[in-house]
Amino acid sequence: MQKTVVSQEQIAHQYEYMQFIARMNAQKAEVCGHKLRAFTQTFGCQQNEADTQRIAGMLDEMGYEKAESAQQADVIVINTCAVREHAESRALGNVGALSHLKKARPDVTICLCGCMVQQEHIPEKIKKSYPQVDVVFGTHALWRFPELLYRRLTGDKRVFDTSGDAAGYIAEGLPVLRDGGTKAWLSIMYGCNNFCTYCIVPYVRGRERSRDPQQIVHELEQLVAEGYKDITLLGQNVNSYGKDLDTPIDFSDLLVRLNAVPGDFLLRFMTSHPKDASHKLFDTMAACDKVAKQLHLPFQSGSDAILKRMNRGYTAAHYRELIAYARDKMPDLTLSSDIIVGFPGETEQDFEQTRALVDEIGFDMLYTFLYSKRSGTPAASMPDDTPHEVKQERFERLLRTQDERVQARQDAYAGKCLRVLVDGTSKGTEYPLTARTEGGLLVCCAGDGLKIGEFAQVRIEKTSLRCLFGRSV
Ligand code: 5AD
Ligand code: SF4
Repeated sequence: MQKTVVSQEQIAHQYEYMQFIARMNAQKAEVCGHKLRAFTQTFGCQQNEADTQRIAGMLDEMGYEKAESAQQADVIVINTCAVREHAESRALGNVGALSHLKKARPDVTICLCGCMVQQEHIPEKIKKSYPQVDVVFGTHALWRFPELLYRRLTGDKRVFDTSGDAAGYIAEGLPVLRDGGTKAWLSIMYGCNNFCTYCIVPYVRGRERSRDPQQIVHELEQLVAEGYKDITLLGQNVNSYGKDLDTPIDFSDLLVRLNAVPGDFLLRFMTSHPKDASHKLFDTMAACDKVAKQLHLPFQSGSDAILKRMNRGYTAAHYRELIAYARDKMPDLTLSSDIIVGFPGETEQDFEQTRALVDEIGFDMLYTFLYSKRSGTPAASMPDDTPHEVKQERFERLLRTQDERVQARQDAYAGKCLRVLVDGTSKGTEYPLTARTEGGLLVCCAGDGLKIGEFAQVRIEKTSLRCLFGRSV
């Protein structure tokens, strides 16, 4: 299966649609006395946030101003997630609630996009039960959004485009509208080849495909020139970056090239996969001064039997070995992970192995999820006879273990001096600014000379479970 690189001619067509709409909008704006407005809402992961920024870039090019709420908007775009049922129900709930708005203002255009709608059964459901939705487009059609919106605005009743072959697309040259501030997402690849048995992502985002390294370097240079200082490289599995490219380059080589871009900035990346994370990667992280000593390495379960049924391709022992190596190379490494509790057939003993691993390793941050059945995935047809209450109790037990470990790790920072990037204001008066450490930990800070968007040295004065409190030195 070969990915499709969208030609520059096709991209130019999309710019033409954007210009058509911009002209239409300029005329409408004259009549109503203000620019037309667009509202976007995102569910799910950073990848989805990055996609919404591309949609926002196109909306901006089409002459829409940012609306603060759906009520104010002429166009509403809801970018959905399919990873867990909860995210789906929330998105559908929000769309349901928009039916009143649509009745009151039939001229508002409601668009639904992203992972949820790329699932086979969803378009039918929206056709039948959500008549207020005007445009539906899947992850593969994101780059065609201007054309789809144009069709709707010029008379098509409802526009559905959830086509696209699983190999997927790479589309370069479309606009991106970021939030400003210090942080930026930078997608380096799309899709996933791993087919973990619980996960819907490979079905809705297609196969792994890497962006050309030159394009990535160029985008990083632009971000640095625009003043972004905290840049996160995104991919479902960044450790397999480059495998599909003609250029012989892997993720570590890419990091070295990005680290060489001049400027004062930090590079983070997510997500890594224990099956593909290599010693070379950790050596490279240690050697690159702009690469944050931060690693998000999901292990999902501490039980080898469950890992096997999840099709994760590693054992708990391998995971331990990776962490030991990484910590040896980077003693200050900040570590986070994803865990699924209640995978089909998980026994008390399996769960205890997960909890023991959390206790042993000591993560700075943990993203813990209750297993959610996704139709079409292999795990959906595995026997699952553990009652919900049992899973819930395990989940809470795991959080207690994690909180104890985090408190101890946080306390250990008391009195230490840390380099932070000041990135916003906090609600507190005693420590009025927020910042992030190189490892991504939240610090509320106070003192002279602190400025949003700049790096500073702070001494940690006190700690809580979720926050460090520091003063500039
Ligand atoms: N149920 C619960 N959690 C899931 N994740 C992915 N699929 C599921 C599912 N079906 C979690 C994994 C992954 C994170 C992004 O979401 O832990 O790492
Ligand atoms: Fe899903 Fe596994 Fe791919 Fe992550 S690596 S997106 S969990 S299939």
